[in-house]
Amino acid sequence: MTKKRVAVLISGRGSNMAALIGAAKEEAYPAQIVLVLSNRPAAAGLASARAAGIATAVVDHTAYGKARERFEQAMQAELETHRIELVCLAGFMRLLTPSFVRRWQGRMINIHPALLPAFKGLHTHQRALAAGVRIHGASVHFVVEETDGGPIIAQGVLAVRDDDTAASLADRVLAIEHKIYPAALALLASGRLTIVDGRCRIAGTQDAPGHLIAPPI
Ligand code: GRF
Repeated sequence: MTKKRVAVLISGRGSNMAALIGAAKEEAYPAQIVLVLSNRPAAAGLASARAAGIATAVVDHTAYGKARERFEQAMQAELETHRIELVCLAGFMRLLTPSFVRRWQGRMINIHPALLPAFKGLHTHQRALAAGVRIHGASVHFVVEETDGGPIIAQGVLAVRDDDTAASLADRVLAIEHKIYPAALALLASGRLTIVDGRCRIAGTQDAPGHLIAPPI
């Protein structure tokens, strides 16, 4: 099996990046993380990537001012240098231009801390609380031009508790993120995903068992 060559793009802490690196250590995992690229030189995830023996690169967006195309050209050059086949956005806090998104169409995925299509954008946990939803979670999806709008690959859910805060939700959703992101990347890297009419189809998976109802009844 040739493992797909993956870059993880980060801007900060990098806990999802670490989950991907950890999963990819398994011999049977169909992808290898060969590059961690950050737009912020101070991103904490860079140090943990280096400690794990992964090549890192920084393309500092502040050096490019408003020239987003040139920023992305510099990122693209890094991706090409490392012969990257798949890109995982993991807390990467820059919006990408349509031309960059098109170039990586079907080969770039993102993790979002909400059950898409609900709560696209920022402050998802606060907004879930304000909306009073009983179920919340995380989604991994293909990246398309619309932010947080692409075909959904995997989702994980939790039941919201009456005493939850944005911080407690963030903690519990993050634990879900760390499970579903490596799983979704494995599905993509092993060629089991196809997109039909804007919807992601997955070959060879079982349907999830049972229902999750909150509160339990
Ligand atoms: C995660 O909650 C992810 O869903 C969101 O940004 C956060 C990044 O956290 N896109 P980390 O850097 O992976 O720890």
